[in-house]
Amino acid sequence: METTFVMIKPDGVKRRIVGEIIHRLEKKGLEIVDIKLLNLSKELAEEHYSEHKGKEFFDQLIEYITSGPVIAMVVKGNNAIQAVRQLMGNTDPIKAAPGTIRGDYGLTIRENLVHGSDSLESSKREISLFFNKNL
Ligand code: CMP
Repeated sequence: METTFVMIKPDGVKRRIVGEIIHRLEKKGLEIVDIKLLNLSKELAEEHYSEHKGKEFFDQLIEYITSGPVIAMVVKGNNAIQAVRQLMGNTDPIKAAPGTIRGDYGLTIRENLVHGSDSLESSKREISLFFNKNL
């Protein structure tokens, strides 16, 4: 079993599609093992996205991700990291296939509704950052 970190971003919460996104994760067979709603501090946002520091979209990304509450989750299942990434679709919603969360609900690369860890290392780092757990 693998665990991964999933975050429903402020646009997903504002647009009331939290239930839809969780429904898709659960329909796939994934289990929500921890969940909370929180407002990201600038510090937590910058730490979470530290790999993008210095990129031209970084400041706007931090502004967006701190613009309202997010839902942070620990999600468990067989190949959970890859399963979540398939359900989310391409980072750019315009390139994401219909049937994926971003393909069905998104239009712009920044406001792409949902984040999922991209590797085992990232999932461990992100889970401990948001939930103070070492998995
Ligand atoms: P995420 O998968 O959470 O990882 C980094 C985030 O930065 C990404 O989703 C988008 O929200 C945002 N992002 C990535 N590329 C760009 C870009 N070219 N312009 C604006 N935002 C971006």
